[in-house]
Amino acid sequence: MEYLQMIEKPLVLIGCAYLSWKLIRHMLNLLIVGKDPVKILVTGAAGQIGYALLPLIARGAMLDHDQPVIIHLLDVESAAKELEGVKMELVDGAFPLVKDIVATTDVVEAFQGVNIAVMLGGFPMKEGMERKDVMPKNVSMYKAQALALEQHAASDCKVLVVANPANTNALILKEFAPSIPAKNITCLTRLDHNRALALISERLNVYVSDVKNVIIWGNHSSTQYPDANHATVSSISGHKPIKKLVADDDWLNTEFTTNVQQRDAAIVEARKMSSALSAANAACDHIRDWVLGTPKGTWVSMGVCSDGSYGVPEGLIYSFPVICEKGEWSIMQGLKIDGFSREKLDETALELIEEKILALSCLKS
Ligand SMILES: NC(=O)c1ccc[n+]([C@@H]2O[C@H](COP(=O)([O-])OP(=O)(O)OC[C@H]3O[C@@H](n4cnc5c(N)ncnc54)[C@H](O)[C@@H]3O)[C@@H](O)[C@H]2O)c1
Repeated sequence: MEYLQMIEKPLVLIGCAYLSWKLIRHMLNLLIVGKDPVKILVTGAAGQIGYALLPLIARGAMLDHDQPVIIHLLDVESAAKELEGVKMELVDGAFPLVKDIVATTDVVEAFQGVNIAVMLGGFPMKEGMERKDVMPKNVSMYKAQALALEQHAASDCKVLVVANPANTNALILKEFAPSIPAKNITCLTRLDHNRALALISERLNVYVSDVKNVIIWGNHSSTQYPDANHATVSSISGHKPIKKLVADDDWLNTEFTTNVQQRDAAIVEARKMSSALSAANAACDHIRDWVLGTPKGTWVSMGVCSDGSYGVPEGLIYSFPVICEKGEWSIMQGLKIDGFSREKLDETALELIEEKILALSCLKS
């Protein structure tokens, strides 16, 4: 009898705690079911990155796995038939998170009310062409889309430019859509970031998930500076600096850097087409971390509007190490920049200044 009295209280307490937990979970589930769909626009959606990206969005890999989405697809008139085919495949996927799909060649309809815009649409650089050959077409396209973004997208729309020249296309959007906060316009360097993680993991024979905090500085071009000076590998004994583990500065400053910079060319050579699967995956990583936050103690690379940090001219769209929290990115401050890195940071900034001048002159002529 005494024994029963002794266990009665703890049993009642456990029972109450269990019921409270069930109630909280039920209420959370009610909240989750009630999530409003997020409208995501993908431009250039009939292209090859679009084809790899759309199923990732539809399955919930870009936002939360319980986040409903409405997908807007934009492409040019000449690709309207392919675009319709992509829409048909998305419909046939019967993705539970997809609440609606709008496939259009009308820029105004495409941008209507979108919360996130992933800009893949662009005029491609064909064999024998240089950046300056495609610049006039791309910057005019981005100026026109800036107007649609400003007038028709949600005022806090988050924009990721993937199409090349990615940094300068993003800069044109920022200049010509002034009512969208400059912080909301970014470009993709996460693919280069992921490539750098993968190269380090191969070199050290460790899992890629244990490598973190590489940095891509600057332009998404061959002047970008992949920097492993602050990167680490996690192990049961803590985080070890990659510089120490590799113990070969020459490799880090030459082979590592050029392999990241020229990976695109290597993929084109092997596939006869540029990277699509990895680019789509990186676009997903970029938006997911921006919206949901970077893991504690980890930064990622994003092309963002410079505030003058690390001596990078203000206003350029430049790739920095960033941490994300509550839907906002901020540049990781206080990293030591050695003489070699300084030169590289300035070199890629100079290229971006030249691109900006060229882009603005294209718009005047
Ligand atoms: N930043 C990066 O890391 C990165 C990586 C890979 C590729 N890219 C770039 O991404 C872009 C897309 O690559 P892809 O392989 O999918 O190219 P793609 O040629 O297969 O697709 C591009 C699509 O854009 C469309 N398009 C052209 N003009 C448009 C406009 N005004 N509005 C809407 N759509 C338009 C085309 O019709 C085409 O369907 C390219 O510019 C490529 O260089 C960037």
